[in-house]
Amino acid sequence: MAEQYDLVVIGGGPGGYAAAIRAAQLKLKVACVEKRPNKALGGTCLNVGCIPSKALLDSSEMYETTLHKLGRHGIKVGSVALDLDAMLKRKDKVVSDLTGGVAGLFKKYKVTPVYGTGKLLGGGKVEVTAADGSKSVLEAKNILLATGSESVELPFMKYDGKFIGSSTDALNYNPVPKHLIVVGGGYIGLELASVWKRLGAKVTVLEFLPRILTIADGEVSAEVQKILTRQGLEFHLETKVTGATVKGDQVTVTAQSKDGKALSFTGDRVLVAVGRRPYTAGLGLEAAGVKFDAKSGRVEVDSHFKTSAAGVYAIGDLIAGPMLAHKATEEGIVFAEQLGGMKPHINYDAIPSVIYIWPEVSSVGLTEEQLKEKGVEYRVGKFKFIASGRAKAMDETDGWVKVLADAKTDRVLGVHILGPRASDLIAECVTIMEYKGSAEDIARCTHSHPTLSEALGEAARMAWTGVPINS
Ligand code: FAD
Ligand code: NAI
Repeated sequence: MAEQYDLVVIGGGPGGYAAAIRAAQLKLKVACVEKRPNKALGGTCLNVGCIPSKALLDSSEMYETTLHKLGRHGIKVGSVALDLDAMLKRKDKVVSDLTGGVAGLFKKYKVTPVYGTGKLLGGGKVEVTAADGSKSVLEAKNILLATGSESVELPFMKYDGKFIGSSTDALNYNPVPKHLIVVGGGYIGLELASVWKRLGAKVTVLEFLPRILTIADGEVSAEVQKILTRQGLEFHLETKVTGATVKGDQVTVTAQSKDGKALSFTGDRVLVAVGRRPYTAGLGLEAAGVKFDAKSGRVEVDSHFKTSAAGVYAIGDLIAGPMLAHKATEEGIVFAEQLGGMKPHINYDAIPSVIYIWPEVSSVGLTEEQLKEKGVEYRVGKFKFIASGRAKAMDETDGWVKVLADAKTDRVLGVHILGPRASDLIAECVTIMEYKGSAEDIARCTHSHPTLSEALGEAARMAWTGVPINS
């Protein structure tokens, strides 16, 4: 007889594993099916996404700092050499420590991991095909789909396992490419372009639209392009890539400029980073009656993550919303708590995003463009890091904090930060937005001196009163 569970989760990424653990904490009997080789839990995020990319961003940032910034602090170093094998090995160790940590948590909370590919059979049954081809069936009162997403491949530029590849390939280049051509100036394009530029590659970014980081506040995206150009990245906007040919050990990307001019770029590696789409191959969605959007591939759910099939739910990259690990995790936890009889809530207006280039970019809430489009009257408070004592002390004065507040109520509608450690600074803004706080609320909170967070206090003060103290 098939093993019976209260919940079977398909996919062990940050959405799926968080849901499995939370449901087990609430005393439900839970299994989590994961198909990655080597029984690796943690999904895209831990294995080939957030974690390895941040490990390389941190390592390459240290290399860049040693080469170009320490001297300004009066620190002389002898000859500096890159040991790429060691850097990649460290990254792999960070990944294996963390994926092993998820396996440990499953053990601790009594979640049963089931290694293999899950498929919906309908009627509360999930078939699992193990790596050796053997099949088993799990029975569940509830099934959660958390199968995540995969890179979008351009039909005229197929991955070839060497010259043209996705972010997964770009986490393992060795040696450092001489000339990396990046197609797509979004999250992945800019983060991995930064890694390889710092490690010595020439990098050219080709972007289809008139600006990079299309999701960011317009002013931030323009300044990021300026700063990255100063760091040595080359950008070609409004450039429509049309194909790629490999000859010898070089690859030539052909493209068309806005005015129809034929362009070509020759390098030794091409990273295609033009977005991700939900991963549903072999999941048996149609047979099980799970509706999904034909164009985007996103599974349709209601506000309780219910799909069109009874007892089947979906979260994370598979459904609508930003494809971010913390969004998937929040949904996983909220789903599990709903199943466990609690009444949790997720506020989609206060999900932060961070781009881990240097200086970092972070934001929460609406951009100026979105506010204008909605016809909302708003006030802007902006404080540049050049006027921050701590940023000066760090010698990291690029960027600013921008607070957008409702013109009538002063409620914070969005915060956009470009600057050192923006990834940490955004946390306070998320809390304020969760509590529907105002710019005055931020300004009246005491910020330690000297910290970068004072810049947030000053930007908020400006949004509230029209003028900061220190600028
Ligand atoms: P996933 O993490 O994709 O997990 C889904 C899991 O399901 C996978 O392990 C897959 O093997 C498994 N699976 C699929 N089908 C089946 C099946 N039929 N049976 C069994 N198992 C199956 N987000 C951030 O918030 N911050 C970042 O810094 C960040 N950096 C990123 C960097 C890169 C290079 C990439 C590619 C992504 C990054 N992301 C980042 C996005 C983040 O990785 C995703 O949003 C997140 O992993 C989505 O979580 P998920 O649980 O929905 O799916
Ligand atoms: P993206 O959506 O961020 O950026 C893709 C870019 O490619 C866009 O600017 C788009 O205009 C451009 N583009 C699309 N087609 C093109 C073409 N044919 N030629 C040239 N440019 C083209 O997608 P990306 O960078 O692939 O990342 C996927 C997702 O992964 C992100 O949207 C994000 O959700 C997640 N992610 C998050 C990170 C973080 O939180 N720090 C880091 C990396 C990924």
